[in-house]
Amino acid sequence: MLTRLEARPVRRMLGCYSGQKESVRMCPDLPLLEGKTALVTGPTSGIGRETVAGLLARGAHVVLAGRSCKKLRALIKGLGEDGYDADRLTPVICDLADLDSVALAVQEINKIFRRKPLDILVENAGIMPTKYDETPQGHEISFGTNVLGHFALRAGLLRGCLSEKARVIVLTGDIYVFSQSCSADFRWRTPLGGIKAYHRSKLGNFWVARELQRRYPRLNVFIVHPGVVATNLGLGGAVSRAMKQHLLIDPVAGAQTSLICATQPDLAHGSYYHNVHGEVELTNADPAMNDWEARQFWNACARLSERGEAAQISTLRRAS
Ligand SMILES: NC(=O)c1ccc[n+]([C@@H]2O[C@H](COP(=O)([O-])OP(=O)(O)OC[C@H]3O[C@@H](n4cnc5c(N)ncnc54)[C@H](OP(=O)(O)O)[C@@H]3O)[C@@H](O)[C@H]2O)c1
Repeated sequence: MLTRLEARPVRRMLGCYSGQKESVRMCPDLPLLEGKTALVTGPTSGIGRETVAGLLARGAHVVLAGRSCKKLRALIKGLGEDGYDADRLTPVICDLADLDSVALAVQEINKIFRRKPLDILVENAGIMPTKYDETPQGHEISFGTNVLGHFALRAGLLRGCLSEKARVIVLTGDIYVFSQSCSADFRWRTPLGGIKAYHRSKLGNFWVARELQRRYPRLNVFIVHPGVVATNLGLGGAVSRAMKQHLLIDPVAGAQTSLICATQPDLAHGSYYHNVHGEVELTNADPAMNDWEARQFWNACARLSERGEAAQISTLRRAS
């Protein structure tokens, strides 16, 4: 029997914290992923780093899509020191907040993997901004990074090396249930506005993932709530540190739901997987289930990312 989650935000949030420490579902060690290639965005910290470690431990080759060369170098060194085979890592610079950087990353990844398709794509990177900012293309920063950057990356890989039956794992967060909409032009001033921008973007992630599954039925799309995890995400400060210590799970535990979706057989594609409840059912009143909004949102993302692509091509032409 699936757990049914009501669209009642406060109850949903309490449900995310209560008992999560005691009910972490660990991903089984098998099946192995030898011969498979995975790409993880946001591999340099938190859940992403532990997802990479889990994929490597199961024998996969992993493409690390990160925005900082220095952090990618440190990650590869650190994973090597932890005993993982660093020869099975391919770093690629990809700043998801900048559509020009994403376009260059797509070119590079499709070139490297033109003969060997990508089997697993983990759309993990994410920010919860504390100050209002915009991307170089003028979009609100959490929309630009969490939603549009991934949209452009995936679209480019779908035209190139992404296997038509790939597993695509999209990280959302149950906090999305506080939102009813998501857009590129959301303006905010206070830190509370930053949290709002974040949960709007997580609803955007959910809509895009559901629409992706509808448009590409051969793909295996999974939408993941990883738990409430002690990572670099969100606000710092003493209250946050105390909460992290007492209520939150660690990043190894936070990576388990992504790893389950990346590896396990007999999962329901297109479904929402929660770290405590596993596969869950949502009600029709849930904002994530609004198919009409999801379609409009997909179309808006497609227009914005195509415009970014056109600008990038003309910049490259001007430079040559
Ligand atoms: N932590 C939680 O409680 C929680 C709950 C629900 C959902 N999630 C989701 O889980 C995912 C991972 O978050 P986390 O908690 O592990 O956070 P984290 O520790 O802050 O890691 C975020 C990762 O995203 C990368 N990133 C940020 N901006 C980027 C950009 N412009 N381009 C490319 N990469 C960028 C970061 O790279 P740098 O190292 O370069 O900054 C880092 O590797 C996010 O999608 C988040 O929404 C987390």
